[in-house]
Amino acid sequence: MEAVNDGLDRFLPRASARPSTIHKAMRYSLFAGGKRIRPALVLAAADACGGTWKDALPAACAVECIHTYSLIHDDLPAMDNDDFRRGKPTNHKVFGEGMAILAGDALLTAAFDIQAQAPSTPRYPVARQIRELAEASGSLQLIAGQVADLEGEGRKLSVPQLRYIHERKTSALLRAAVRLGGMSARCTPTQLEALSDFGYHVGLAFQVIDDILDVTQTSETLGKTAGKDVAAEKATYPSIVGLEKSKRIAAQLTRKAFDSLAPFRGRAVALNALAEYLLNRDR
Ligand code: IPE
Ligand code: IPE
Ligand code: MG
Ligand code: MG
Ligand code: MG
Repeated sequence: MEAVNDGLDRFLPRASARPSTIHKAMRYSLFAGGKRIRPALVLAAADACGGTWKDALPAACAVECIHTYSLIHDDLPAMDNDDFRRGKPTNHKVFGEGMAILAGDALLTAAFDIQAQAPSTPRYPVARQIRELAEASGSLQLIAGQVADLEGEGRKLSVPQLRYIHERKTSALLRAAVRLGGMSARCTPTQLEALSDFGYHVGLAFQVIDDILDVTQTSETLGKTAGKDVAAEKATYPSIVGLEKSKRIAAQLTRKAFDSLAPFRGRAVALNALAEYLLNRDR
């Protein structure tokens, strides 16, 4: 992940650039120690399609900027009201709510600036790549999921309603990550379909596991406050179907993700390893 950290450092304004408060706030969350799962998915997908990490780097950095912005805003008092993230006080705890909102806005905007610097190819012109990112993070996907998540607080949701939330707030960006990785490697339409299927299922598994970890792990391990979903009466898999069934569902979704890699005939080693790691992670 050295390459991704270097890339993010180069793509973003320096911490000293005026007004320095905003650039410090952006960098504070971006370099706080996230797992960099989405960039890893971009690079692994590019690798599966015979591409280079260099061509995939802009997409890897762009998705991490979108993700980090979504976390800064997710943690705000008006949303999940969290004090800790990535093992540190949340952005608004350090910089204040106004600056945290602006740091999120600026990271979201930076993501499109970065994606626009990705190589453009006849099959995947850069405008198409930008739209891919916009769609996944817009009001029909990531934002839609966050809306439904907030509106679901304190309500008893059905499994399909919960799946609607997970598909959007989490799976959409993971799916876009692997698709953009594939596009950077000039993937075939068949490969793009396989990556979509993989990203969709890994994305769903990812949020089921996030919900499980919230009830099974300590705040120290997670780097964010554990047990907060119950406290906020969030709709989650453990709260609706129970912990054991949630674990089975996560494993099932991961198996579906493995299956979707069949067209790569053993070339998607890194993607396979990532899906396996994500299922067994403890943070
Ligand atoms: C947390 O994502 C938010 C969800 C979508 C579940 P991560 O678990 O990838 O968070 P970081 O990037 O490692 O902090
Ligand atoms: C966050 O979901 C999803 C997005 C930020 C888009 P959660 O609210 O479950 O994430 P955590 O548990 O705070 O990391
Ligand atoms: Mg949330
Ligand atoms: Mg949250
Ligand atoms: Mg969570």
